[in-house]
Amino acid sequence: MKLAPSILAADFTRLGEEIEEIADLIDYIHCDVMDGHFVPNLTFGPPVVNALKDRIKLPFDIHLMISDPKAYIGRFATGPEDIISFHIEAVEDPRPVIAEIRALRARVGVALSPPTPISAIAPILRELDLVLVMAVYPGFSGQEFIDVLPKIAELKQQIVREGLKVEIEVDGGLNADNIKEVLSAGADIIVAASAIFGQQDRRKAIVELRQVASS
Ligand code: DX5
Ligand code: ZN
Repeated sequence: MKLAPSILAADFTRLGEEIEEIADLIDYIHCDVMDGHFVPNLTFGPPVVNALKDRIKLPFDIHLMISDPKAYIGRFATGPEDIISFHIEAVEDPRPVIAEIRALRARVGVALSPPTPISAIAPILRELDLVLVMAVYPGFSGQEFIDVLPKIAELKQQIVREGLKVEIEVDGGLNADNIKEVLSAGADIIVAASAIFGQQDRRKAIVELRQVASS
């Protein structure tokens, strides 16, 4: 299991320290960028993400929940180890957005909100590095997990059938009670805000999630 804690449940007054405290235990740091338009919430954008990137030597996993991803992607100071994901529901044509991410040499992800079927990304699947399957409606941490297990399994089957190297990331409502089935369905990367930064002892929470995953 690759783990991508989301800073959405961290203390925003000390983001750098919060990430550094767990940096050696995680694979990515997940940054939820929201514009108050695609989703009914506002968080932070390129200045905050880039400042964190300057300080923290971890791959960044940037989840764009914004209406016009193409307009902002070029402002992220990303490299080959980072992921930038945009929502398929936000764009009419994903190809120019993918090209924008490739121009930064970052890895390309496309996110699907819970009601969006995987057929929505079938034409571009082989151009992606990652599919981000949302298990909550995008916008807030601390929501209840929606059962997207059949969708994860179907996507995994399609990736295997077509011999692709696309990773599956699952985001929303994940915790020690459900990550096992999410991983069994085919997830490669697990995102968690409340289950990590929402906990008193984050390092212990991560160790416990990893124990559950490998049990
Ligand atoms: C929701 C975000 C998630 C969120 C997850 O729109 O994309 O990354 O931070 O929060 P939890 O893990 O609390 O559901
Ligand atoms: Zn997210």
